[in-house]
Amino acid sequence: MTTGRLEQFEGAATIEKVAALCRRRAFVFPSSDIYGGLGSSFDFGHYGVLLNDNVKDEWRRALIRERDDVVALDSAIILNPEVWVASGHVAGFSDPLVDCRTCKLRFRADKLEDSSCGRKPSVHPGEFSACDLTEPRQFNLMFETYVGPVREDASRAYLRPETAQGIFINFKNVTSSMRVKPPFGIAQIGKSFRNEITPGNFLFRMREFEQMEMEFFVPPADAEEWHRYWIQQRRDWHIELGLRESHLRVRAHGPEELSHYSSATSDIEYLYPIGWQELEGVANRGDYDLRQHSEASGTKLEWVGHDERYVPYVIEPAISVVRASLAFLCDAYHEEVVSERPRTVLRLHPRLAPVKVAVLPLIGRNAAMAETARPLYEELRQSMSAEYDADAAIGKRYRRQDEIGTPWALTIDDQTLSDGTVTIRDRDTLAQERISIESARDVLEAKLAEPWRPRGD
Ligand code: GAP
Repeated sequence: MTTGRLEQFEGAATIEKVAALCRRRAFVFPSSDIYGGLGSSFDFGHYGVLLNDNVKDEWRRALIRERDDVVALDSAIILNPEVWVASGHVAGFSDPLVDCRTCKLRFRADKLEDSSCGRKPSVHPGEFSACDLTEPRQFNLMFETYVGPVREDASRAYLRPETAQGIFINFKNVTSSMRVKPPFGIAQIGKSFRNEITPGNFLFRMREFEQMEMEFFVPPADAEEWHRYWIQQRRDWHIELGLRESHLRVRAHGPEELSHYSSATSDIEYLYPIGWQELEGVANRGDYDLRQHSEASGTKLEWVGHDERYVPYVIEPAISVVRASLAFLCDAYHEEVVSERPRTVLRLHPRLAPVKVAVLPLIGRNAAMAETARPLYEELRQSMSAEYDADAAIGKRYRRQDEIGTPWALTIDDQTLSDGTVTIRDRDTLAQERISIESARDVLEAKLAEPWRPRGD
């Protein structure tokens, strides 16, 4: 397993620059913007939706579609509150917090070095002589709500802080209705909610985020081997989709870091511009969850085969869509000078790029060019995300596509009208070649199927 030797992110991206591009190009908007925003909440614009969809689709492809041993699930967000008692979240899903009696702000006790005191000049909490911090107290991260018309303790429920529990409580439903047998997995994508106390850093830590989680049920004796297998699989997925290997490392949790349910966890860490941070966790949850729910619900959650009966161990790769998208955006963000003009380009893996191809009549107002370009665009969009753009000078249109990471542009010009060829421009190399209009769809589909690596990796 590689360990990171880099201390610093290599590239032009900073969180601020990526956030600015995301806003400018309709990937991500601050949520409730016209009301002054809401901490750590973001709305996704057109290209952000397409990027996130591609990330989810790649996850489903690798974890469900191309495997025989993983099935899908989509469980409810609000579950019976007893689920969260049995899972240990009501008692244990908390962060240690300190309050400052002077500035009345609240901080995570274990992240003081990442926090700023409310006073200027900005220092860490506790570093001013006037700072007066309380002892740490545990603060539960689950959002509460009430089910039904009466707001009382008996109707209190929680917005799920992880999708995993919805999978555990469906273990019996799935094993009795699907042709599955350990080792097998149940995968789900869905929103999770956490009342995070140290938000910030753009999409990195949100209060509402989509998780992609898979619980893989295995015979207990095989759990360590499957843990190693899934760490490797998940690391390979990030690399296959274009993250630079030098920006990835695997780090095993020390005993003091382990979650209440975990017997071993390794984080796949990415070197974000803010430093090495958890991108994805791969945990060995042992039989903790199935045993807890068996005991609390009275329903035995175990594997019963012809001549065997046991409670499986669980290996869990878990990642949020936003942490993945943010890593892909940071890795892809480049600034360079082309023909003495600066350009910003997102070198996203073509399969992740929100738009695969832009169809551009060289002169937007030229009716013959537009009449040739439009049917080509309409054909291409049947099999891939395509965009038609006839506004502004061609250079400006290329820049726009570069900034949203479109890998190829097809330009219809005078020559097209005489010989039926178009130029295909490559986002990364800027090379332009001529291909026939008839072959354009095949050419692009073939390019999309090719492996792709970032330049210089
Ligand atoms: N079911 C296990 C679990 O939820 P976790 O390490 O708390 O484990 C799994 O979360 C993944 O979810 C993390 O690796 C990260 O990708 C993502 N994640 C966790 N908290 C997040 C937050 N506040 N904002 C965005 N993503 C988050």
